[in-house]
Amino acid sequence: MKKYYLTTAIDYVNGAPHIGHAYEKILTDVIARHRKQRGEDVYFLTGTDEHGIKIQKTAAERGITPQQMCDENAAKFEQNWKELEIDYNQLIRTTSLEHTQIVQKIFKKLLENGDIYKHSYTGLYCAGCESFLNPRDLDENGCCPDHKKKPEEVTEENYFFKLTKYKDKIIEIIKNDETNFIRPDFRRAEVLNQLENIEDISVSRSVDSVSWGIPVPGDESQVIYVWIDALSNYITALGYDTENPSENFKKYWPADVQVIGKDILKFHSIYWIAILMALGVELPKNLLAHGWITIDETKMSKSLGNVISSKSVMDEFELEHPDAFRYFMVTAAPIGKDGNYSDDDFKEKVNAHIANNIGNLLNRTLNMLVKYFDGNLEQDFISNDLKSAATDTLDDIKTKFDKFEVAEAAQSIVNLADTANKYVNDTAPWSLAKEGKMQECAKVLYNVLETMRYIAIMLSPYCPNISQKIWEQLSLEGNVADFKLDELNWGEMKLGKIAEKSTISPVFLRLDSEIAGDKKKC
Ligand code: MSP
Repeated sequence: MKKYYLTTAIDYVNGAPHIGHAYEKILTDVIARHRKQRGEDVYFLTGTDEHGIKIQKTAAERGITPQQMCDENAAKFEQNWKELEIDYNQLIRTTSLEHTQIVQKIFKKLLENGDIYKHSYTGLYCAGCESFLNPRDLDENGCCPDHKKKPEEVTEENYFFKLTKYKDKIIEIIKNDETNFIRPDFRRAEVLNQLENIEDISVSRSVDSVSWGIPVPGDESQVIYVWIDALSNYITALGYDTENPSENFKKYWPADVQVIGKDILKFHSIYWIAILMALGVELPKNLLAHGWITIDETKMSKSLGNVISSKSVMDEFELEHPDAFRYFMVTAAPIGKDGNYSDDDFKEKVNAHIANNIGNLLNRTLNMLVKYFDGNLEQDFISNDLKSAATDTLDDIKTKFDKFEVAEAAQSIVNLADTANKYVNDTAPWSLAKEGKMQECAKVLYNVLETMRYIAIMLSPYCPNISQKIWEQLSLEGNVADFKLDELNWGEMKLGKIAEKSTISPVFLRLDSEIAGDKKKC
């Protein structure tokens, strides 16, 4: 069985999760679920990043210990992923003993190999980035362009990682890379540009300035500064060990895709790659940098008070499961581009795509099957009018997922439903029935229901609950998510009794519909 290892960024736990964090986890979850449908042995890692000055400061402001705050907020992330049905295999916390011990071993190995050295340094430190900034990267007010705050001038004796030693090798890899491991490939130029100006990086802080971190082995005066700690999670979670890597590590590493936001691509495409080279560990196959989610076209920020969580959206619309939210988020932007959330866009899109396009198609077809054929599908109904549309869509979504074009793949599924709707309108099975052309009418219904089976399977990574409802309305047994794409062939729709009047119900209620009544807000 082919393995597929995918990871998300690990979230800072100095606050609660918001829809930006949720976007990344849903995106990764949809890819993971699709890979399972391809018959692969998927391992999906997510986690929380729990050390550093931001966490130390926020905990101090709240009068609690950093560990208390980490425990409290990590639980909120975990709860949020549960609500969104993020089906990960492991959630790593960087304060766990296993992680801490392996990070110390990694640090020690890098030190022994001469990749880490001690050096006195004065630099501009941005607590928001947990990083020293280069003066040329500041904005016109001398502030960090991301955090809009003036970095602090800090002089310290720290440990440094010899990033410059790996610069040429990384440039060469990226330039000659035919696999385009930096995704989407329009980000390549940006990384190459950043590589031009890199310097060795500080990988520790003095305990006088930051105490909340993993101690440097053999030097109690320093803690390991976040990036070596945080980035290593991708291998420590699998049981990487500098001397004796675990079976799990040997099985799943290198990662097939590491999903991250565009703001941390530099840390992954340069620092992480260099650390792996220094450790002699294979490089990840893909780094997928997604765009940012804004709210009503505005960047989310605590000061603007516009930070929203998936829970607030689900509560506002009284959603019984996360499917509509998952669908909206993951289709909010083409891969790598920024996306936007607004209540109106959310309602409009899920109503149009899921309730109207897909839901109504199923509903009206099943109703006709009951009305004209007592809910039965027979052997001689089988027909191929929509065969190529459905099978081409299946091929297309596979190709798109291989390129991480998750929103684009969803659009292909919706286009297939459009085609089927148009087919129903053009063939007008109700007229065929009226004219007594029952064989022709039956064939139309067969084509649509068989297409619906394809749609349920392909939609399942995005909307696991709605797909299962479609599956059950089609009278199919088992779990739609378990169906493997390789086994999906046209013409294999179950025959016999499919529907009864009493069992037909909408698979997704319009968010502002009369059926939803006053239960749904709009
Ligand atoms: N802890 C670091 C990552 C370390 S990975 C070894 C970090 N944490 S974070 O909490 O600030 O962000 C976690 C992830 O969420 C990042 O990939 C980041 O890009 C993503 N997002 C945070 N806000 C976001 C949006 N508004 N929109 C989309 N993704 C965003 O960075």
